[in-house]
Amino acid sequence: MYVCVCNAVTSAEVEQAIDGGAESREQVTAACRAGGDCGSCHAMIEEMIAERCPKRRLAVLGGHAA
Ligand code: FES
Repeated sequence: MYVCVCNAVTSAEVEQAIDGGAESREQVTAACRAGGDCGSCHAMIEEMIAERCPKRRLAVLGGHAA
């Protein structure tokens, strides 16, 4: 499934970027170009980071990021 239609970036590619250390939308864009154009995918990318990034999960749960 495409997360970012503008740049033809799939959810698998965004997940790879997050797994590779991207912790913000800007870092995801730098890693795989998703979100680098119209911006309509930004909310989806933010959601994927929140769900997948371990540091973000800890922050949401009130823990401390390493
Ligand atoms: S859909 Fe991702 S920047 Fe346009």
